[in-house]
Amino acid sequence: MITDCVDGFGRKINYLRVSITDRCNLRCVYCMPEEGVVWLPHDDILRYEEIERIVRVGVGLGIDRVRVTGGEPLVRRGVVEFIGRLAAIQGLQDISLTTNGVNLPEMAGALASAGLRRVNISLDTLQPERFAQVSRVDAHAKVLAGVEAALAAGLHPVKLNVVVLRGFNDDEVADFAALTLTRPVHVRFIELMPLGESGKIEEDRFVASAEIKARLERVRPLLAPPPVPGQGPAEYFQWGEGAVGTVGFISAISEHFCASCNRLRLTADGRLHPCLAMDRTVDIRTALRGGADDREVAGIILEAVGRKPRRHYMSAGLTGAVAEAAAADPAGDVEGDAARGVDSPADDGPADHEEIKRRRMFRIGG
Ligand code: 5AD
Ligand code: SF4
Repeated sequence: MITDCVDGFGRKINYLRVSITDRCNLRCVYCMPEEGVVWLPHDDILRYEEIERIVRVGVGLGIDRVRVTGGEPLVRRGVVEFIGRLAAIQGLQDISLTTNGVNLPEMAGALASAGLRRVNISLDTLQPERFAQVSRVDAHAKVLAGVEAALAAGLHPVKLNVVVLRGFNDDEVADFAALTLTRPVHVRFIELMPLGESGKIEEDRFVASAEIKARLERVRPLLAPPPVPGQGPAEYFQWGEGAVGTVGFISAISEHFCASCNRLRLTADGRLHPCLAMDRTVDIRTALRGGADDREVAGIILEAVGRKPRRHYMSAGLTGAVAEAAAADPAGDVEGDAARGVDSPADDGPADHEEIKRRRMFRIGG
């Protein structure tokens, strides 16, 4: 029996990503449709006290880091107080937030005072018109002000998430990297994942990290950086001597980092997601609302941990540029793996592919 957060592949699960809402004040093209999103009904959404309880029990099992996500977490009322309550949980060492930054100018100070340590801000372009195209809202200036507000509030580190789309913002990678020369920010270039709305985006929009690295290296070397707090899946570099920030690469497709996966996700409506790319969720809300005691809650968390697959197959079965990137991945021998029965019986494998495309990042908590 599993008594601690170690999954069937020996990975220690100490990181919980908590989506507190599926709503958002932007409509990024790779994430949400422009109109007609059916939001989760209010009663289905976990109350803050319910989330806090799950986190407390999780901490008893070895969770020591929590990231608050959405949708856009800063649109949910009471989020500052909620962060404050999380910060009071003994044993929780790190509380972070992923936000689109729109509300940060007003909220960064209060969040930092409440106990938030650090923040990841999604920003795909440095050009206002492009921002309005990709997010369908004219809020670029607010996000830039949000980045400065986060720095001024002492949130550290401030990471910027840039989803790279060919023909849209791939010509801006050097501009983004240039920010790190003078500002203490960590710019992370993220490979587009074929989830949800982005399943509809043409696959030739995908840009592999290797290509971005090569482009940046033509201008300045990518040097080994000082360590960046929050040991996530990104690989970091200093873009030339003297840069005060770093550039990072999150290569979920071309070099899936599943072997070092340490995370579990909680959706706003109370399901635990063992893996972003698979559907094997465990309902925890029903038990909470049915009066489960802490042991039962712990059992549900451990069940979700036990359902973690060995790896995802987001790159499998894709065509075009994405498939090429997958082929370049030495561990990407998906068909071979399946034929040899390498995966555990609990591993869904490539058959999940169509289902992956139907997934909603904003429901799962990016
Ligand atoms: N592929 C890659 N990144 C995505 N994000 C949202 N959808 C996708 C996708 N399909 C990113 C957001 C944000 C983070 C939470 O996830 O840009 O930075
Ligand atoms: Fe909102 Fe983030 Fe989705 Fe953009 S990617 S629509 S900011 S949840």
